[in-house]
Amino acid sequence: DAAEKGGYPHFMLKEIFEEPQVIRNAITGRVKNGKTIIAELESIADKLKTTRNVQVVACGTSYHAGLVFKRFLEEYAALNVEIDVASEFRYRKIKFDEDTIVVAISQSGETADTLEGIRIAKARGATIIAVTNVVGSTISRESHAVVYLNAGPEIGVAATKTYVSQLTVLLLIASYIAQLRGFGDKKLMQIVNEIEGMPTIFESILATSNDLTRELAKEYFDYIHFMYIGRGYGYPSALEGALKLKEISYIHASAYQAGELKHGPIALLDRKFPVFAIVPDDSLKTKTLSNIMETRARDAKVVAICTEGDQAVARIVNSRIEVPKVSEPLYPLVMSPYLQLFAYHVAVMRGHDPDKPRNLAKSVTVE
Ligand code: G6P
Repeated sequence: DAAEKGGYPHFMLKEIFEEPQVIRNAITGRVKNGKTIIAELESIADKLKTTRNVQVVACGTSYHAGLVFKRFLEEYAALNVEIDVASEFRYRKIKFDEDTIVVAISQSGETADTLEGIRIAKARGATIIAVTNVVGSTISRESHAVVYLNAGPEIGVAATKTYVSQLTVLLLIASYIAQLRGFGDKKLMQIVNEIEGMPTIFESILATSNDLTRELAKEYFDYIHFMYIGRGYGYPSALEGALKLKEISYIHASAYQAGELKHGPIALLDRKFPVFAIVPDDSLKTKTLSNIMETRARDAKVVAICTEGDQAVARIVNSRIEVPKVSEPLYPLVMSPYLQLFAYHVAVMRGHDPDKPRNLAKSVTVE
């Protein structure tokens, strides 16, 4: 067991530390001179060029990766994208036609609801792209095209390295679609180049993030609630941060779009209910800052994850984690290891085994 964990106390920690390599694997053969090549999608390139109808289907962490994909496609490929969790999607009465592309995201490739979702969409004429880590999985076999994560097996039940891999692969797929549709401009090329540099950025993040998040966890592990807030690309990170925390530490954690606070959630806050604010230095930052001020006015302690050297954030929060400055759509990537490690340390401090959370399974093959 100890040998399998490569010297780490848990698979979860080992797998988080594999993230630089996992990103490298996701990029290999798919990026060149600021351009993305997804060979697996070449056979449906014509459809991707002309479609006006993209639907994303996924569950859990994969759904959060899908939210980032949706936003990116809308912004960089001028495509409207629908997304739904598979257990809802499969019961909706949506019309599909041959123009519809369904992107099914499933790390295991076996999730029952996602599988059923693609079967329904396929029967109604849609073209299915699977994004999965498992070669030969049921979802991969039943899809028209498959893009693999190549992340290696993930043992920890709560997804970590596969999430980072999904984000990377989905950003590359979205860039490829944007290029096909004639949006391969300088900004997009810069993002693709930045993605290529991610393994190195992740190596430097992982050199310090473990100690940093352990210190932070000492301050917060004893609370019974946590509210994650974020906007734009920060919202999927809030969802994923909250999911990681509840999955393995059993602290009640919820995530809200920061702008929704005043429509209800803020009533919950007091000094016993801390807030985890996702606040990168992006186009929505000032809005989130004013939401943070509102939470402070209710005596909530605030932990923020923000961009390096951001004094505006530093001035108004109790604790913070700083991430390197990157292009807006890449913040979900660079924030991931911190959110995962924070949840990890909180879980361990509360005496739980993060690899085997109660009531959860690695892949949910029943409805
Ligand atoms: C389970 C796992 C989650 C995962 C979800 C979707 O709930 O515990 O970590 O995100 O299934 O799994 P998939 O294999 O479809 O990505």
